[in-house]
Amino acid sequence: MVDVAVLISGTGTNLQSLINSCGDHNSPARITLVISNNPHAEGLNRAKAADIPTKVINHRNFKSRDLFEERLHEVLKDNGIKLVCLAGFMRILGANFINLWRNRILNIHPSLLPSFKGLHTHERAIESGALFTGCTVHFVNPELDDGPIIAQAVIAINADDTPDSLAAKVLKKEHIIYPQALKLVAEGRIRVVGNKVTMKNVIYANECMINPIT
Ligand code: GRF
Repeated sequence: MVDVAVLISGTGTNLQSLINSCGDHNSPARITLVISNNPHAEGLNRAKAADIPTKVINHRNFKSRDLFEERLHEVLKDNGIKLVCLAGFMRILGANFINLWRNRILNIHPSLLPSFKGLHTHERAIESGALFTGCTVHFVNPELDDGPIIAQAVIAINADDTPDSLAAKVLKKEHIIYPQALKLVAEGRIRVVGNKVTMKNVIYANECMINPIT
């Protein structure tokens, strides 16, 4: 069983999908800690409702990013955490912290990386004239929204889509692929070679991981 911490800043719908999937008795991962940098994050209530310990580490209480991340690292270590899932965690993590947790931090991003890194992905996808967008689960490296890709799901952009309509469709896919990706990592079926992920014993990996059947 792999002990996982989920880091959030807001609503926590991805956290909820991870709580639900880790609640399955076959799950190789369990969420043993939810950390928020925002004391008012709605996701904290989701964790409490599932009897998962929570901790607020408010970045505003630290003099520097390094000090904030040192505390984060300490709390993760003290709690025996093996994997970290960022789920709407709105702080950029520095290279020191990321290197301590290299290939053990997962993130979900609402675009088909490497396109549309950063914020306002849906507006930018529509404005670009792209016909497809989606979401990506990847290991975190020191570059923003970069790192080996574990899972992606694709969504068609229709002529009448707005950023909100697209966000809703993409979010539904996020809730499918994040639990799938976490399961593969926790089962030890993922290897990182250079900047790429390879999977062991995953049958039809592409079909499963891209646009999974709902
Ligand atoms: C999601 O769109 C995720 O891709 C992005 O932040 C959003 C978080 O939503 N990183 P929620 O808090 O999980 O509902």
